[in-house]
Amino acid sequence: MTPDQPSRPITKAVIPAAGLGTRFLPATKATPKEMLPVVDKPAIQYVVEESVRAGLDDLLIITGRNKAALEDHFDHHWELEQALEAKGDLHRLERVRESAVLKVHFVRQGQPKGLGHAVHVAKEHVGDNPFAVLLGDDLIDARDHLLEEMLRVREEKGGSVVALLEVPPESVHLYGCAAVDGRDGDVVRITGLVEKPDPSEAPSNLAVIGRYVLDPSVFEVLEHTPPGRGGEIQLTDALQTLASSSEPGGGVHGVVFRGRRYDTGDRLDYLKAVVRLGVDHAELGKDFGEWLDDFSGQRASGQR
Ligand code: G1P
Repeated sequence: MTPDQPSRPITKAVIPAAGLGTRFLPATKATPKEMLPVVDKPAIQYVVEESVRAGLDDLLIITGRNKAALEDHFDHHWELEQALEAKGDLHRLERVRESAVLKVHFVRQGQPKGLGHAVHVAKEHVGDNPFAVLLGDDLIDARDHLLEEMLRVREEKGGSVVALLEVPPESVHLYGCAAVDGRDGDVVRITGLVEKPDPSEAPSNLAVIGRYVLDPSVFEVLEHTPPGRGGEIQLTDALQTLASSSEPGGGVHGVVFRGRRYDTGDRLDYLKAVVRLGVDHAELGKDFGEWLDDFSGQRASGQR
């Protein structure tokens, strides 16, 4: 931070969860994609826990139609809790309660006008504070500390910070893509951003993944950001404006992530996430790992 920008601790996180989940139909026809289980927790709970671990415990989830299950999940379920208590099943009781004791707020997006619009809906809750945005599809392994590193970079440089991942050039069209200079280890200065470019026009193979630490000046920029790719108001376009801004709060840096990330909105990556987190699971990991080795051996020898 520059001396005229006193640092304020960041406590707020916004989790956009209004999307339709079309990549996962028909599973997501009546169930929000954020509620799909990854081993034994819904995907969104991993994201909420990541946020809380990084010290961001004032959470706002942006929802829409058919997302009531999210509100139920982060609330108490008195009948269930009483039934578990009566049975003396304290382990399950604790697991049921752990998502209900968090400070989670909800607001509805109203109209599906894109990620930039969803983030703007958080303006009233966030106020004039820097805040994080965590996209529910991207699951970052709890052993990697991406968000903490991004908060550190915001503290040091000010402005906004995005998470970047090196992807194969043929996958760049699935992401926001960054033009960068001034590399310092895994921290880069962002000079431009383009949403889902054609690979032939992509400025790099650095893709924006679903973690952002944003300066509150993004709200005003979003108000003037016209619909972009897909006719939607794109967060990437607002960040492109901030990247070249010398106004207070301007400037965007990137943290190149080299850890474990699972895109649970993609069916193949979702299966990989379940297997990888299943193998590491405290209660199930040992048995599941042994079964998996067995299964792989049988497949390799053509028995399955
Ligand atoms: C969104 C963003 C995109 C980003 C991606 C990360 O796209 O618009 O810039 O790269 O998330 O997952 P979506 O995947 O929602 O289409």
